[in-house]
Amino acid sequence: MAAAGSAVGLGNIWGFPTQAASNGGAVFLMVYLLMVFALAYPLLVAELTIGRYGNADPITSLRKVWPQQKALMGLVGLAGMIAVSLILSFYAIVAGWLLGYLLAPICEAAGLVSLAHWLETFGSGRNLVLMLIFMWLTVMVVRSGVADGIEKWSTRLMPVLLLLFVVMVIYILTQDGAWAGLRLYLVPDFSHLSPKLIVSAMGQAFFSLSLGVCTMMVYGSYLSKSANLPKTAAQVALLDTGVAFIAGMLILPAMFVAQHNGVVIYDESGALLASDTLVFSVLPTMFDTMGPVGMIVGILFFVLMIIAALTSSISMLEVPVSCAIEELNLKRHTAVWWIGGFICVISAVIVFNFDALFGRVVTMTTAYAQPIIGMIFALLVGWIWHRDKVLQEIRKGYPAVESSLFWRIWPWYVRIVCPVLMLLVFFVQ
Ligand code: PFF
Repeated sequence: MAAAGSAVGLGNIWGFPTQAASNGGAVFLMVYLLMVFALAYPLLVAELTIGRYGNADPITSLRKVWPQQKALMGLVGLAGMIAVSLILSFYAIVAGWLLGYLLAPICEAAGLVSLAHWLETFGSGRNLVLMLIFMWLTVMVVRSGVADGIEKWSTRLMPVLLLLFVVMVIYILTQDGAWAGLRLYLVPDFSHLSPKLIVSAMGQAFFSLSLGVCTMMVYGSYLSKSANLPKTAAQVALLDTGVAFIAGMLILPAMFVAQHNGVVIYDESGALLASDTLVFSVLPTMFDTMGPVGMIVGILFFVLMIIAALTSSISMLEVPVSCAIEELNLKRHTAVWWIGGFICVISAVIVFNFDALFGRVVTMTTAYAQPIIGMIFALLVGWIWHRDKVLQEIRKGYPAVESSLFWRIWPWYVRIVCPVLMLLVFFVQ
């Protein structure tokens, strides 16, 4: 459940629907699903397996897999750490917007109208303050150690989140204009298929499953030896994809309802306007149309999403922190404050150069760094790590694995198919 908590977050409610709406809806959904099951799931098993085998921070785990190449493995771990820190630095900005949309109606109800307006209006000052608050929350949780708390939070969060989504989907589909959004989401128009769409869908799948940046390796190291790795990975992938799918059923129709009500969401060239923030401006508009219950639904929604974002941001910060604790012998407390502070500085640089940096950092990390580092993990498991050792590790929680369909396919799949598929995606560009 903690791994599911890492996977389910802004990627599902913000990243996926925004990308789907920008890339032709149903076609993006189809390619995304293909990427999740054909590429991301096998790599999730690989990353979790390396982590549980290593039973240590990612750098040590990678070195256990290839002991002859300690320096190279250190570099791979470092690349993952840099990528995940950059992801957290933009993630905290977006999560800060959620805080703003949660607090704004409360301030308004309390008569603090200008504060409410400030919280909802895009600006460097607001982005900075909210980002710092979110980072502070993340630091506070990671400081107290990850393993126990998160699982409880995630277990409680998921059913409520899913239920709330279902209720909101039913509501939005009763509104004028919603069906046009649903049609875009579910009826494919293949003229949208393009190399860019395929790369975006691959990046989104890696982002959503927290792959290629050592996060799942760290969480693998926290798994018990009796956990069935292929099954755990399948549960995480299914839950994450389920939440993304339902979020799409909500957000795309909500965008079209807003359009029906006079909000311009696409420009003349068909590109999504203000795409980074669109989800967060469309949803409050929807809550406003719900009458008195709208405020309660809105608050519940944003609280749940902030918790979901926190269970993801915690998993990101845990990567460099676990390395600093084990490799540099730092105390958890010291490591968390220094690394958290450093990420705040990077995040502040992005805040003050938003137009130039935000989109670039998102693309660089999710569409390139995550798949490329993920491919390195696949190559390690497929070519370097001895097959018997991989088998031994998986067998601990899945004694019958050797005779399973999974074992007949997966080893050569990560060895050949995953790297080839990924290279193809990059080459067709
Ligand atoms: N999977 C998270 C989401 O969908 O919001 C984002 C994420 C978490 C990416 C952890 C990378 C990571 F290491």
